[in-house]
Formats: sequence, C-alpha cells, structure tokens
Amino acid sequence: MSSPGATGNAADSSGATVYIIVIVVVVVVKVSILVYVCHKREQTGSNNNVYPDSQFLTLTMDRFLNDMEREKPIRFTSQQLRIATDNFTNLLGSGGFGAVYKGIFSNGTMVAVKVLYGNSDKRIEEQFMAEVSTIGRVHHFNLLRLYGFCFERNLRALVYEYMKNGSLDKFLFGEDKKLGFQRLQAIAVGTAKGIAYLHEECQQRIIHYDIKPGNILLDANFFPKVADFGLAKLCNRDNTHVTMTGGRGTPGYAAPELWMPYPITHKCDVYSFGMLLLEIIGKRRNLDRNLPESQEWFPMWVWKKVESGSVVELMMVCGVDEEDRDMGERMVKTALWCIQHRPDSRPWMSMVVKMLEGATEIHSPPNPFAAFLLESGAPNKNNSTRTTWTDTSCDSGLSSSNLICATPVMRQYGIEMASS
Ligand SMILES: Nc1ncnc2c1ncn2[C@@H]1O[C@H](COP(=O)(O)OP(=O)(O)OP(=O)(O)O)[C@@H](O)[C@H]1O
Ligand SMILES: [Mg+2]
Repeated sequence: MSSPGATGNAADSSGATVYIIVIVVVVVVKVSILVYVCHKREQTGSNNNVYPDSQFLTLTMDRFLNDMEREKPIRFTSQQLRIATDNFTNLLGSGGFGAVYKGIFSNGTMVAVKVLYGNSDKRIEEQFMAEVSTIGRVHHFNLLRLYGFCFERNLRALVYEYMKNGSLDKFLFGEDKKLGFQRLQAIAVGTAKGIAYLHEECQQRIIHYDIKPGNILLDANFFPKVADFGLAKLCNRDNTHVTMTGGRGTPGYAAPELWMPYPITHKCDVYSFGMLLLEIIGKRRNLDRNLPESQEWFPMWVWKKVESGSVVELMMVCGVDEEDRDMGERMVKTALWCIQHRPDSRPWMSMVVKMLEGATEIHSPPNPFAAFLLESGAPNKNNSTRTTWTDTSCDSGLSSSNLICATPVMRQYGIEMASS
C-alpha cells in the first residue's frame, strides 16, 4: 500500500518529466527552424553568387574570404605603380623582357615592378590576364611571388615581391663571393625544389625555359626563389611534349633540344639546372674565355676530372673544404646527370632534390658529351656503360619508385640509378 506522500511524489516527478519533455521539444523545434532558415539563406546566397548578410558571416569566415581574395593577383593602375616606384626611378636591373624597378606601397610592402618591353595590344589583354592569373596562383616557398600586374595602353608590368639580396649571379661571378659552400648547397636544393614544384606539383605543368643564376633571387636570409616563370609556356600534363617555334632560353644554359628539331619537355629545365649547379660549384661562369683553353668550358673540364678519377683535385680547384667534399662530389655527379645530352637520360627534378640532399645513392654519370664525340667521329669511351632514364617507361607517374628506372643496358651492368 502506498502512502499519500508517495502518491504526491509520483505525481510531482511525472509532472517534472512532462515539463522537461516539453522544454526539449520546444528547443529542438526552435533549433531546427533556425538551422533551416540559415540553410535557406546560405543557399540563396550561393545561388546568386553573393555572400549572405554580414551578420551571418562569422569573423573567421570573413578573414578566410579576405585571405582567399589576397591569393588572386591584383590589377594595378599605372598611376599606382608610378607612385609606388617614385616614377620609376630606382632601377634594379634589366633583362630580355623588361626593366625592373624597386617600389613600395603605402602599407609598407616592398615590390619589384618589371616593366615589360613592347606595347599593350588590347587583343592580347585576355591572354595576358589568363597567364598572369595562373602564375599568380602558384605558391611555393622557393618560387618568387607575383602580387599583381598592370595592363594599360602605356604600361604593361608585373609586380613581384621584392628580394633584398637580388640575384645569385652577383654572388657567383661578382666581387662579392661571400656565400659559403653550405649556403650555396642550400640554395641549390631550394632552387631544385622550386623547379620540381613547377614540373610535378602544379595542376598544369609549368616549364621555366630560362633557369640561370640571374633568375634565382635571394631573400634577406639568402633563401632562394626562382623568378620569371611568368615567361614559361604552360603545358598540359597530358601532353608529353610542347611544340616550340623559335629559340628560347639563354645560350650556355639552354638544352640542346631547344635549338635542334627535337621534342621539348620539362627536361630542358633539368639541363639548365645542371649548368647552374656547375656554376654554383665552381663559382665561375661555365664559359670563361679568359682561362686557358682546357678550362675554358667548365662542364667539359669537370667531366674530364671525374672521368680520370681526379675529383679531389677538382674539389680543391673549386675551393671546397675537406669537410664539404662528399657534398661537393654529390653536387658534381648530380650536375653531370642533369646535363646529359638526351632529355630522357636526365633525372626528374624531384629526384635531383633527393640526389642533392643525400637521400639517394648517385651512381657514376655517363659522359654527357658522348653525343658530341660521336658526331665528331671521336671514339666514345663510355658507350658500353651508357645509362639512361627512359621517360616512356618512367613518366607514367610521379612516385619516387616510378622515377627510378633501369634500361636493359643498366640492368646488364647491374646499374641501379637510385633508390627511394
Ligand atoms: N623581385 C626582385 N627583387 C629584387 N631584385 C630583382 C627582382 N627581380 C629582378 N631583380 C633584379 O633585376 C635584375 C634584372 O632582372 P630581369 O629578370 O629583368 O633580367 P635577367 O633575369 O637578368 O634576364 P631575363 O630577362 O632573361 O630574366 C635581376 O638580375 C635582379 O638583380
Ligand atoms: Mg630574370
């Protein structure tokens, strides 16, 4: 038998339960309505391609959208660039495509404004903007950032981030040879990473075509950034080859296929990088007519030293200290692989990075000049051990295991190029 008190308690507790259920239902209904309204507003917003009222955007979202906005290259007016560059007074240098001026925007951002030669033909405006917008969206620590551009009748210009230490050529060939071997090795690795990104990680492969010390810029900490990939022609990943008309690149760095009627691929950049690497090792121009004839062309001289087993002498001439010799040898071998005559004998840039970082063993490179010797009728000593990367079997994918390929000749001689 239950007491009256107990009955009262039961009634109280069931009343409380009902009350809680009602509250929960009300809350759930309110939240559902709120979610539905928000969802509807969002849909309306995205359908119209406009953002919903600012009250529906949190602060974080606002910031995110702003950041996204900044990723896009900005269009400047000639007036804005004139003000930023103090009417183009501070010339940083000039090259084949234009003159570069230092500038500063009112918010303190330092820039380098490259004023392109030639006039702005309205017909190419769309093409110009399409290319600039692609280049402006390519971001990598080792690639020079493009902030924006100007396309007006009287001015066609590209606005880049400013690099305090200018270009690498100054430190290799000028008076100021203050960069130590390890710093130079780091510059070589960074540069290789930047090019590897252009070749292997961009949605559409970008071939640079003009890798050389003048196009490697150094920031305040001497970190390298590859510049001028704005001049690169875009080439679709599906197309193995780009058909080119006319000459390209800079003599001394341009791969043989750039002036011969052979297909051109991203491997032309690998060749130029090899030439750049030799100049980094030697701290001299590859071609120096002031030197005795045997040393005049540095790449050939380097190969002769390697072939005759005189690498130590080579390191001494290049001023590489004993503790850096291993690194120096690795750089030399990598360079000789990069400048192979046949494009498919050259490694991919991601493999070059591994070679330079010591992440893979580097086998003795074949004679890069064998083709010249054959053409001139001279005997090709290295013919029996010619080793190549065969792109037709290697280029199907980008994983490191796919990059390491052995040709039948390589297998015959037990030569394995690299392991991951
Ligand atoms: N973003 C930058 N920051 C600082 N200095 C720069 C910048 N861009 C270019 N320069 C300087 O301007 C010089 C000229 O550059 P430019 O690209 O016009 O010529 P180049 O690299 O010698 O030849 P090319 O026309 O073949 O690229 C460079 O060597 C460098 O010293
Ligand atoms: Mg340049």
